[in-house]
Amino acid sequence: MNQLDKKSQGWSALFSEPMSELVQRYTASVFFDKRMWRADIEGSLAHARMLAGQGVIAAADLQAIEAGLGAIAQEIESGQFQWKLELEDVHLNIEARLIQLAGDAGKRLHTGRSRNDQVATDVRLWLRGEIDLILELLSQLQLALVDLADRNVEVILPGFTHLQVAQPVSFGHHMLAYVEMFSRDAERLVEVRRRVNRLPLGAAALAGTSYRLDRESVARSLGMEGVCQNSIDAVSDRDFAIEFTAAAALAMVHISRLSEELVLWMSQNFAFIAIADRFTTGSSIMPQKKNPDVPELARGKTGRVVGHLMGLITLMKGQPLAYNKDNQEDKEPLFDTVDTLKDTLRIFAEMAGGITVRPEAMEQAALKGHATATDLADYLAKKGVPFRDAHETVARAVKAAIASGVDLAALPLATLQQFNPAIGQDVYGVLSLRGSLDARDILGGTAPTQVRAQVARHRARLS
Ligand code: ARG
Repeated sequence: MNQLDKKSQGWSALFSEPMSELVQRYTASVFFDKRMWRADIEGSLAHARMLAGQGVIAAADLQAIEAGLGAIAQEIESGQFQWKLELEDVHLNIEARLIQLAGDAGKRLHTGRSRNDQVATDVRLWLRGEIDLILELLSQLQLALVDLADRNVEVILPGFTHLQVAQPVSFGHHMLAYVEMFSRDAERLVEVRRRVNRLPLGAAALAGTSYRLDRESVARSLGMEGVCQNSIDAVSDRDFAIEFTAAAALAMVHISRLSEELVLWMSQNFAFIAIADRFTTGSSIMPQKKNPDVPELARGKTGRVVGHLMGLITLMKGQPLAYNKDNQEDKEPLFDTVDTLKDTLRIFAEMAGGITVRPEAMEQAALKGHATATDLADYLAKKGVPFRDAHETVARAVKAAIASGVDLAALPLATLQQFNPAIGQDVYGVLSLRGSLDARDILGGTAPTQVRAQVARHRARLS
């Protein structure tokens, strides 16, 4: 039995009584932090190779450590590895097994290292890998939305402000608004990744170490972009986890906005879209129901990720330097944030392909709210009427349309001319939904030519 295995009897010679079972369970993290095992082994290998390179440990020790960690990786992968609660966390579990396998060489691995810089390194390595997966999923989601937009450039949707019909827009244009959001989410994660990808190892417990470690070479071998420059900050900083969670929370907020629209559009009162059956569920009592469970759940899970952000940021509030055990609480919110975001992005990318658009329903809805009133005002302004006066004139015309129970575009020319004699037959092109769309042929506008150009830009960017 080695020292670490004796932990259940007490940490070291210093301790005169063992931990109670409750305290062991309370302080242990192995059942959630074991998922970082690959990062832990990767970090240990880099550390051991550097120790050997610097002559701190012998080449034979390094060999034994490499062989031992290789065997442990296989044991974990094949499910043979015995995780022990009494060994507290992933780090001590792997180290104890290494000592069983490699003897004294295994005991030398922790030279010039503390679990404080070890855990900070592991979390960063693990998170870096997850960010790369998330970036890939964000690209896939964007591409799926670009495809959906591309198929529906010409489909006219009532654009809303205040959830009141505002102006007609291309459905494709509306979808590309979400692509913009998700592309900013990706940009943010690329930024965050740079700060995640820095090396704490070498900070040891908090003050650095007296061994001649080559921190830069460890960073290089781990593919990190630099080393943390202050040992106290290196072991106590969790900004990177907070920043990541903030970026993830914002991505989920974007998902929740899309979710809300899908739910609304699917309801009988809108009936703008249908979502493939595989993303919906029925009711156990109402046989006619098809419920948009996936978007609803995503909307709900957004609260959970926002909650994790609050949890993590509060975890750090007021913590004195340097490492405190509080920081062990960073993992579950971080892990759950990653899991929730990844699953949600994946399912939305698939679901985007399963959305059927009902152009007639959207168009009928767009015809309801005098959506081209602004176009009439612009028409008059282009004829020399000051815009504010044109606005007032059109408001009166809309009032008349409401009184006769028709849309503005359905008023006879003679009626329209009562409001301004300059109005001619050509006004009907302007008042049509398609005319309104085509007129907005400006960078970032909803004219189909513009939307097509944006589709092409996104495709080029995402390929
Ligand atoms: N399981 C611990 C954590 O997640 C590892 C670091 C423990 N360090 C210590 N000094 N107790 O933070």
